[in-house]
Amino acid sequence: MIAVSEVSPLRDLVGQARAQGKRIGFVPTMGALHEGHLSLVRLARREAAYVVVSVFVNPLQFSPSEDFTRYPRRAAADKTLLSREGVDLLYVPEPAGFYPADFSTAVDVGGVSEGGEGARRPGHFRGVATVVAKLFQQVRPDVAVFGRKDLQQVAVVRRLVRDLDFPVSLVIGETVREKDGLAMSSRNAYLSREERRRAADLSRTLFAARGRAAHGEKDAHKLEEDSRKQLEASGFALDYVEAVDAETMRRVETVAPGTALTAAARLGKTRLIDNVMLLDATGPRT
Ligand code: PAJ
Repeated sequence: MIAVSEVSPLRDLVGQARAQGKRIGFVPTMGALHEGHLSLVRLARREAAYVVVSVFVNPLQFSPSEDFTRYPRRAAADKTLLSREGVDLLYVPEPAGFYPADFSTAVDVGGVSEGGEGARRPGHFRGVATVVAKLFQQVRPDVAVFGRKDLQQVAVVRRLVRDLDFPVSLVIGETVREKDGLAMSSRNAYLSREERRRAADLSRTLFAARGRAAHGEKDAHKLEEDSRKQLEASGFALDYVEAVDAETMRRVETVAPGTALTAAARLGKTRLIDNVMLLDATGPRT
């Protein structure tokens, strides 16, 4: 595995691989890698002969009150994991070089970015769309892989790619979970032992709602309200529980194919997000 921190060698190496007729697969990450990230790397490997992974804690997607400075950074461990996965190229941009001091462009994806996380984290998806657009321009992948763990991010990136004609196909990986159901996340490292024990109630609650939907409960409001009560009883400070269409991210009243139940909740200082499909989408999804 070769590691680079600048665009010029990145472009050269990707260009060489492409000249050899290889498809380029790309997995953007913020590091502190876990099995969820690695599952995306394996998906990229299935799709592409040359796999690029970026590790960059993107300041633009954190608001001043968020955890940018304490976000876990584990460069050496990340490198070992990625090299073991057979990644071809690791791209770790230097923040100063990546965003010039007078960087002044933003990519704003309307609609899909407005509810859910977007409503609670103003500017977050502008930061995500901007960095993803920039990384796509730098790497120029044929295929890029994202995780369904961040459902709204998937909707935002899908819309970005469609609206601005990025020549990239998207592959979406399923959420990888710990044994007790907790969705893997770099932020789980913040949880105390006691919080970690309780954290799995988030996914348990969402899966219980999924079970009820499978048994015919179609009233989205009822599923939201019951999940909310259950999570509050488990000691979570809830940001939201919302049933949405996974493509448009609009709230729904009736559960239908493609409806997801999304939640964000805090345990102590840690904010966790998770989602499940209440009814899987029918028909082809990319
Ligand atoms: P990060 O949180 O590091 O996640 C990188 C990718 O891994 C995202 O596509 C995310 O959805 C996926 N992922 C995280 N946890 C997962 C899990 N448990 N199972 C499967 N996939 C999982 O998401 C970001 O970084 C950033 O916003 C980024 C896209 C890199 C832009 O800065």
